[in-house]
This record gives sequence, C-alpha cells and structure tokens, in this order.
Amino acid sequence: AISKKDQLDKKNAEADLGGGEHRIKTQHAKGKLTARERVSILIDEGTFEEIGKFVMHRSRDFGLDKEHYLGDGVITGYGKINGRLVYVFAQDFTVFGGSLSETHAEKICKIMDLAMKNGAPVIGLNDSGGARIQEGVLSLAGYADIFYKNTLASGVIPQISAIMGPCAGGAVYSPAITDFIMMVENSSYMFVTGPNVVKTVTHEDVTSEELGGAMTHATKSGVTHFVTPNEVECLLNIKKLLSYLPQNCEDDAPRLVYEPGSETRPALNDIIPENPNQPYDIREVIEELTDTETFFEVHKNFAENIVVGFARIAGRSIGIVANQPAVLAGVLDINASQKAARFVRFCDCFNIPLLVLEDVPGFLPGTDQEWNGIITNGAKLLFAFCEATVPRITVITRKAYGGAYDVMNSKHIGADMNYAWPTAEIAVMGASGAAEIIFKREIAESENPAQKLHEKIDTYTKKFANPYRAAHRGYIDEVIYPEQTREKLIRAFSMLENKVATLPRKKHGNIPL
Ligand code: COA
Repeated sequence: AISKKDQLDKKNAEADLGGGEHRIKTQHAKGKLTARERVSILIDEGTFEEIGKFVMHRSRDFGLDKEHYLGDGVITGYGKINGRLVYVFAQDFTVFGGSLSETHAEKICKIMDLAMKNGAPVIGLNDSGGARIQEGVLSLAGYADIFYKNTLASGVIPQISAIMGPCAGGAVYSPAITDFIMMVENSSYMFVTGPNVVKTVTHEDVTSEELGGAMTHATKSGVTHFVTPNEVECLLNIKKLLSYLPQNCEDDAPRLVYEPGSETRPALNDIIPENPNQPYDIREVIEELTDTETFFEVHKNFAENIVVGFARIAGRSIGIVANQPAVLAGVLDINASQKAARFVRFCDCFNIPLLVLEDVPGFLPGTDQEWNGIITNGAKLLFAFCEATVPRITVITRKAYGGAYDVMNSKHIGADMNYAWPTAEIAVMGASGAAEIIFKREIAESENPAQKLHEKIDTYTKKFANPYRAAHRGYIDEVIYPEQTREKLIRAFSMLENKVATLPRKKHGNIPL
C-alpha cells in the first residue's frame, strides 16, 4: 500500500503539473509562462504559501465528473514582495483554459477576504477563457461574487490586475474595478465580445489584437495603465508599483532614507522657452524635482497631454499630475480629465500626497469634445481635486488660464500650498484672445487696427500675464525662483505631513460619472 507521505507527495506533484505536461508545453510554445512560474517571479523567494492547492470542481455535467485537476485552474495564496505581505491569485490556463468555475471563484474570494481582514494588496494574474462554460450560471455567480468583493475592497486595499492571456466577456469587469491594469504586448487581450461576435453584429472585421490588445487599450481606450513587452517585465512592474503604495488605506507608503544634499536645480531656470507658445517637455521638470530616477509613469500612452505617475521627493512617495505642454499645448480634454481624475482619487484613497505641475491653456474647444461631454468629464477632475484630503501642492510653471486654473488644484478648491514661477501667466485667457474681445471696438475703430491690437495685447500682458495679481490676493502663496522649487517642495511636503482634513458626513459623494 502507498504510504501516507507518498500519497501527499503524489498529490502535490499532481497539483504542481496543473493541466499536465503537454498543456504546459503548449503554454510555453505561445511564449507564455505558467501560473506557477509567474508566481515564483512575482513573490520573494521562499515566501509563497499556497491556499487551496487540492480544491476540485463539483460539476457533474458534460463529462466533467470524469475530469478533475487539483487546484481547479487557479493558484491562490499569500507571500511577500520586497518583504511586504501580498495576496495573489494566478489563473492556470492549462486547466480548462483557466476558465472560472464555482470553486475557482471561491478560491479567489477566500484570499480577497483574507486580504481585507489583514489589510494587504491583492494581485490578480489573469489568463482565462472566461466563464467555465460547462457550469453555466454557477460560474456567472462566481464572477459576481468577485466583482462584489472587488468593489467593497476598492479604496481599502490596493488591487492590481495583470492580464497575461485572454480576458473576455464578464471576466473583464473584475480587472476594470481594480486600481491598476497591466497588459503584455502581443499575448494579452481584453474585450466584452470577441472578433467573431463583433463580425456578426456590426460586420466589422477586426483582429483580437486590434480590438482589445495591449496597445489598443493603452492608447485608444485607456483601459490598461501599463504595457510591457513581456511577462517578466510585467511582473517586475507590479513590484515597482507596489513600492510606492501603502498596504491599505490606514497605512502610509514606505519611505526611503534620504540623505539631504544640495537641492538647488539651476537647470529649471532655463526650461521655460522665451516664446510662451513654444512647447517643452514637462517630464524634464519632473526629473529635476523628484529624487533621481524615481518617476514611475502611469497611463503613459493615453491622453499624453497630461502626465501622471508616482515619484519620490526626499524619499517620500508622492503622486504627480502635470499638464504636458509638448502635446496639444497641455490642453485639458475628456481623456486627460478622466485619466487625471482617476489618478487623483487613487492617491487620495491611499494617503499619497499630490503634486500638480500646471501649464494649461484651458479646455479643448470643439463639437467632438462638447458632444462627448467635456463638461461632465472635466467636472470629474474638478470634483476629484475638491474631494482630495491628502497634502496637495501646485506649482504653476507657465499658463493657468480660465476654468482650467480653478480645476488644476487651485487654492480655492483646497490645495495647501500654491507656488508660481515668475513665468506664470494666471488669467482668464491668453493675452491676444483677451485683447481681441475686450478692446474689440477700439481696435476696429482705430486707424491701424493691427498696431492697436498689438498695443492692447501688450497692455493685457503687462497687467495679467504674470503671477503677481494672484499673489497679491494670496491665491499664490509664493512666487519662487524655478531653481528653488525642489527645496520648497521638500519643506512643504514635510510641513504637511500630519495634515488632517475631513469631508462633511455623507454616505458618498456623487462624482459626475
Ligand atoms: N470553459 C471551459 N473550458 C474552456 C473555456 C471555457 N470558457 N475556454 C477554454 N477552455 C478549454 C478548452 O476546451 C481547452 O481544453 P483542452 O485543453 O481540454 O482542449 C483549453 O481550455 C484551451 O482552450 P483552447 O481553445 O484550446 O485555447 P486557445 O488558446 O486556442 O483559445 C480562447 C483560447 C480563450 C480564445 C478559447 O478557448 C475560447 O474562445 N474560449 C471560450 C471563451 C468564451 O466565450 N468564454 C465564455 C464567455 S465569459
């Protein structure tokens, strides 16, 4: 008879093999890692503890009573990433295509419950053919259980989803509710309905990659926040992202030891071009202001007219929202507003202070923007800033025009410290537009309208295209030399470290969605 120990050895070996050698080969042949390989790259060596390794499905339909795999297509457990506790589930495509059964869902819910009770992030590595077709509504119920838990966990613990294979139909909605989505180029895709259904319904011919591949979601829909060329980089990216985040909403992000040095950054003095219509790359400003090579950009390929991401200032984790004058002059449009609003809300959920770098000519005009709701969408960003109670600092580098001035973390909507560079222009609009409107008659009646316009632009510029009107009112706390900015930020964020601000008691606000 087989010994008790041998019996356990055998079961462990069987579970380790998932759907079997040949399916592992197929997975590798597609250039994909197995679920176990992914977990071993993600989790610190020797720290992974598996939960539910021998779980099996309970289905008896369509011959499933004769086909069982230990673990039922998902590996779940806990471990450490850079020494910090995380919970993880990794779908195993070699078992029924990683499809989600009742028991598969129960395993995911079990670790989510543990994560909530113990206040640590959940990471999902998704690679699945969707609902386990043979199980019907039991599988759909399993999805809904996960969506519900994702929603309750939102804002309590960070939730990160990596898509490392197919993710279709209802399966997309768990990642969509989580905080960040990462996709892998050429091997992952997400869509609500696949190319075949699309063809039948809309007669469009489209490949999986075009419809819902990594670059599609990175550039067109904004569904994914990160794209990497391969799975290993995707997993490393998850670790990096976590390094900026706290474990839960009651915690602060880890702080690195920082040796103070010279904080003066003379390169910033010459970064703003002479001509106010000339672009520059706001990332150069970010690089100068933040600790060396700590800027970790989020949503890099989407709505590039705004730049968002995490960084460190004197070792402290912060979130940055910056208009990008190098793309569309840094204008705010629908996508930029949504992108920034979601980022601001994430940072506010998890106690990550916000730095806003402002150079914005206003909102993008046009029928496309109006008809698609720039009003509602721009309001999201406004609402998100108004609601944020974390330390909030703004630096106006150049333009702060119109309603966009108010929206971009102005003093009026609760920012704690507002700085402006001497190059700042805080006004209702650019000087030429303004002069054309308010001096319309005078210009028309003048003998030399072109010269008159020029004079009037000059008048308006002298009066308003500067930070001093705002500084006289105290809307700007200090006009600073660009080279001092980093030092000012280090001091101000330190001063704001124990900030307490609370919102009026309510069930929840009604952000214009
Ligand atoms: N339920 C049950 N089993 C599934 C499944 C599902 N939703 N999706 C895939 N599988 C099984 C396949 O039967 C196959 O089993 P086998 O190894 O015993 O042959 C295995 O998983 C691998 O699937 P396969 O189709 O060979 O892989 P692929 O890489 O060629 O294609 C998909 C992957 C996801 C595109 C394809 O499997 C598919 O279209 N699945 C159905 C997707 C769907 O409509 N799901 C329901 C909507 S939520």
